[in-house]
Amino acid sequence: MAQTKFVLDEKDLPSRWYNIQADLPAPLPPVIHPGTLQPIGPQDLAPLFPMEIIKQEVSQERWIDIPEPVRDVYRLWRPTPLYRAHRLEKALGTPARIYYKWEGVSPAGSHKPNTAVAQAYYNHQEGVRRITTETGAGQWGSALSFACQLFGIECKVYMVRVSYDQKPYRRLMMETWGGKVVASPSRETAAGRAVLAKDPQSPGSLGIAISEAVEEAAQREDTKYSLGSVLNHVLTHQTVIGLEAQRQLEMAGDRPDILVGCIGGGSNFGGFTFPFLADKLAGKRKDLRVIAVEPQACPSLTKGEYVYDFGDTGQMTPLVKMYTLGHSFIPAPIHAGGLRYHGMAPLVCALYDAKMIEAVAVHQNPTFEAALTFAKTEGFLPAPEAAHAIRAVIDEALRAKRDGKKRTILFNLSGHGHFDLGAYEAFLGGKLQDYEYPADKIAEALRGVPQVKA
Ligand SMILES: Cc1ncc(COP(=O)(O)O)c(C=O)c1O
Repeated sequence: MAQTKFVLDEKDLPSRWYNIQADLPAPLPPVIHPGTLQPIGPQDLAPLFPMEIIKQEVSQERWIDIPEPVRDVYRLWRPTPLYRAHRLEKALGTPARIYYKWEGVSPAGSHKPNTAVAQAYYNHQEGVRRITTETGAGQWGSALSFACQLFGIECKVYMVRVSYDQKPYRRLMMETWGGKVVASPSRETAAGRAVLAKDPQSPGSLGIAISEAVEEAAQREDTKYSLGSVLNHVLTHQTVIGLEAQRQLEMAGDRPDILVGCIGGGSNFGGFTFPFLADKLAGKRKDLRVIAVEPQACPSLTKGEYVYDFGDTGQMTPLVKMYTLGHSFIPAPIHAGGLRYHGMAPLVCALYDAKMIEAVAVHQNPTFEAALTFAKTEGFLPAPEAAHAIRAVIDEALRAKRDGKKRTILFNLSGHGHFDLGAYEAFLGGKLQDYEYPADKIAEALRGVPQVKA
């Protein structure tokens, strides 16, 4: 019998995170202050983040030790299993071997606790009692509520309005772990009130929710801010995924030809692919293809510009060089709430710019078709975000079939969709809408990007 599940022991839990900054072809462009246009320093970030996280953000060390209390929490669900998708392969009739790393087994149901636990720990170490954050799909807000609960920290979550309405049970999950949840845009911050003044029906976006959470943290002495994606330290924490997957694929006696992950802010994709990309950056695996999958409704990599922009809608964050659709762009209310972000992790952007990775954009109907094919064969019900990766995997597996090639495809199944059944209902009822690529809105938003010479 062919093996289905490749499982590591608790003692094989990685003891270090991999920091790809040490291996980039060129250092990342500096993060700059929007007023002075000079690179920012640690003190500029100190009101928002604990010092250990600021250090990790700029660290050039290849390996960063995972503190023992963090590993101890990881043991609740890590190492996560790697599966060979025998039934999916059979249904597609493909000669490709398909594997998936299953991050939906965490308490919150996705990869997000991998960094939430680390961030809550470092805040706790530095005496922080209160944290604000944003959440799109609700996965990140759940993960941070859970992590803050474990370390005795109060957690306030600005939840993007459209998700707040679509997913009441995600809110209840956060509240169960002690999180306090408000719909964003809200009347609690100047940034939220400004958006509501222009559009009282605003569906919200990650960019708006970030502004609200940052504003509150910047104004309150007792509060810091935590981001669930995009930043370097977040992607570094997520590398436990790829480090485990490397060992598991070795157990399977295989090596990947193609890696696939969905991208919202880039954290599950980065965490999963970076340990493998180290070989490609070192010139050892030039043929390895690494594919990032984004929604057509919010195509940051495939249709954005690589320029300096704000990380949020309210222009409260520093300027980062990234592929962006413009900080004022508000994506259509697709069900993959975690992929509705105008920008992208600077690390992912630098690798895309260096042609180390590829990107594709997909619509939500074909994405849900792929989710159903997966659920009907492998059983697990994917989150809409993760289903974007499955769409691209199925397309690559069918290409392998046409080419008659035995390729090994490995993807990250970043979370389950148990709180996304409203989206499945819309799809099954034929009511799911595909939103055309919003060229005009993006062009307008890009005109509002600050003019900074890179
Ligand atoms: C299950 C799942 N996958 C992917 C994402 C996208 O985020 P990131 O690109 O940071 O992994 C999210 C975000 O909420 C998510 O919930």
